[in-house]
Amino acid sequence: MAEAKAPAYDSSTWFGRTLNWIDDRFPMTVLWKTQVAEYYAPKTMNFWYFFGSLALLALVIQIVTGIFLTMHYKPDADQAFASVEYIMREVPWGWLIRYMHSTGASAFFIVVYLHMFRALLYGSHRKPRELTWIFGCLIFLCLMAEAFFGYLLPWGQMSYWGAQVIVNLFGAIPLIGEDLAIWIRGDYVISDATLNRFFAMHVIAIPLVLVGLIVAHLIALHETGSNNPQGIEIKNHKDENGIPLDGIPFHPYYTVKDIFGAMVFLLVFAIIMFFAPEMGGYFLEYNNFIPADPLKTPAHIAPVWYFTPYYSILRATTDSIMPVMAFAVAALAVMTILRVRSARLKGAVAVGALVVIAGFFTLDAKVWGVVFMGVSVLIFLALPWLDQAPVKSIRYRGPLYKTALALFVVAFAVLGYLGVLAPTPGRTLVAQIGMLVYFAFFFLMPWYSRWDSHKPVPERVSK
Ligand code: HEM
Repeated sequence: MAEAKAPAYDSSTWFGRTLNWIDDRFPMTVLWKTQVAEYYAPKTMNFWYFFGSLALLALVIQIVTGIFLTMHYKPDADQAFASVEYIMREVPWGWLIRYMHSTGASAFFIVVYLHMFRALLYGSHRKPRELTWIFGCLIFLCLMAEAFFGYLLPWGQMSYWGAQVIVNLFGAIPLIGEDLAIWIRGDYVISDATLNRFFAMHVIAIPLVLVGLIVAHLIALHETGSNNPQGIEIKNHKDENGIPLDGIPFHPYYTVKDIFGAMVFLLVFAIIMFFAPEMGGYFLEYNNFIPADPLKTPAHIAPVWYFTPYYSILRATTDSIMPVMAFAVAALAVMTILRVRSARLKGAVAVGALVVIAGFFTLDAKVWGVVFMGVSVLIFLALPWLDQAPVKSIRYRGPLYKTALALFVVAFAVLGYLGVLAPTPGRTLVAQIGMLVYFAFFFLMPWYSRWDSHKPVPERVSK
């Protein structure tokens, strides 16, 4: 039996007695205090700090609307397309639920991309928040998987052929590729078996992992405390009660701020949902209003906008770019060898680079396209260690990081835009330049983040 503790609430009312009853059995008040009312967050958290709570809101929208869609959707190749049409036309408010879910998917990615960009601005991924960042990157991977599996479900032309293209990528892996692709599909082509397993992944497997990772993300964040636009640790200056001098309680200050953010978000969300749910073919592709036809390949297959930067990298990897990539890997290896001290590490880098360069000229460029696409997503995991700057926030960084970040954003947007369009030789060349800039941002970071000039960081957050 737990030790008796003083009741936190007035026992003369039934409400107080109920709260005390719960507290005796579950740490409700303790959790509320430590995680919300007495969680001291930096007083300077600005606009960029809206996107964490908005990501939570987007998650709730997706889960709730997803539950209602599942009540009417049929995961069957013969009925899936018609069941979505049925939801849109016959189910009371079905159109609203479906548009909330489809708009919600794009909104989720917009919010998460801005949330990640905030980290690049203020160094939120740096020590001591590396695990918060890593959980975030895993969330991002899950989100991509969730969106990919969900996109097959309406069983339209783009659902079908998009899935075909992506699953075929696994076929490019040497030796095991073909078998792996068949294992994923459950068939030789995308079929009813594929639809059933993608449905299972989309409605239960990935959401479970996603929610678990989000809980881990927030636990890790609350362990270290939030960063701020100055990148200063507020825990370094506490009063006699152990409360950070530059901290304010999350509730009511940030709960009110986040509610305001949520209202603005919901307003924009409603405008898009009611007036432009297809968003010119970016949120819902026009080809997806045509039922899947395994015998008719659409003239141009493009994924939804949030995947297009990586899809562009895949397509930009042609035979002509391989010598450039070989030169880049060789240059990076030489720079690394000059920098590290351990002779073993120097040897390992040299051998690794030679193997990769030899692979560039022996394996098909298609294989490297898949590898580069994978690296372009996974490289985010290494960011806390690639960044060697003595300061965290962009406010105290010099021109090198600012330029690199600006170029990265432009490259990301250009790659994204090109990924929607059909390739031409000119577009492929631009995408190849974009890919080089994208990778340079990450792989050259250990050098330019050190060489950069830095302004002195104040001891305390200013306002
Ligand atoms: C479902 C997706 C996600 C949810 C619900 C979520 C939720 C949150 C929340 C509520 C916060 C605190 C408020 C804020 O700082 O904005 C936060 C902070 C943070 N998140 Fe996420 N997050 C998600 C995805 C990600 C991803 C994909 C990344 C990075 C790859 C990431 C990295 C971070 C970092 C580094 C912080 C600390 C920021 C700071 O203190 O400056 N999160 N997240």
